[in-house]
Amino acid sequence: MNWRKLRIFLLTVLALALIPATRYYQIDAPLLGYLKGARAVDPLSLHLAGEFVENNLGTEQGADGSVTVRMIAQQYLFVPHCILVPAGVPVHLRITSADAVHSLAFNGTDYNVKVLPGTISEAQLQFANPGEFKTVCREFCGAGHYAMRSELKVVPRDQFPVLRAGERGNCAAQ
Ligand code: CUA
Repeated sequence: MNWRKLRIFLLTVLALALIPATRYYQIDAPLLGYLKGARAVDPLSLHLAGEFVENNLGTEQGADGSVTVRMIAQQYLFVPHCILVPAGVPVHLRITSADAVHSLAFNGTDYNVKVLPGTISEAQLQFANPGEFKTVCREFCGAGHYAMRSELKVVPRDQFPVLRAGERGNCAAQ
């Protein structure tokens, strides 16, 4: 190998290395989790068995008052369509995709959670004040992407129903 070839080779390697280096913010936790094989879930059997079956979706309250929200993102909706959470309480979100890559965002907040099929994305959310937020998909996921909208309702803590074990909160209860 002569010097000229070596120099071209080194510049190419450098250029390729710069691409991920400048885009590190796009290499997010769910993708890394997916690559590591952690938190794997089968997108084809979400509705049939496991954590993301229909009656396990929505808002769940632990014995200690902690709140967990489980959702599915799919072309082109979020399930459940409306999420109910109490204000001022940390909310643990667990979401997965049944098909494409989606991104769950709440208009008017900074929250934006990337959702990939085959893995569970987790996030800690907290809403200081009661209100209603449009839930939108911020990752182009197909023809119906722009219609992929749903809702988040944040209610005062004392108006949030006390959920028993196995019970799930949703907007219809309001
Ligand atoms: Cu889902 Cu865009």
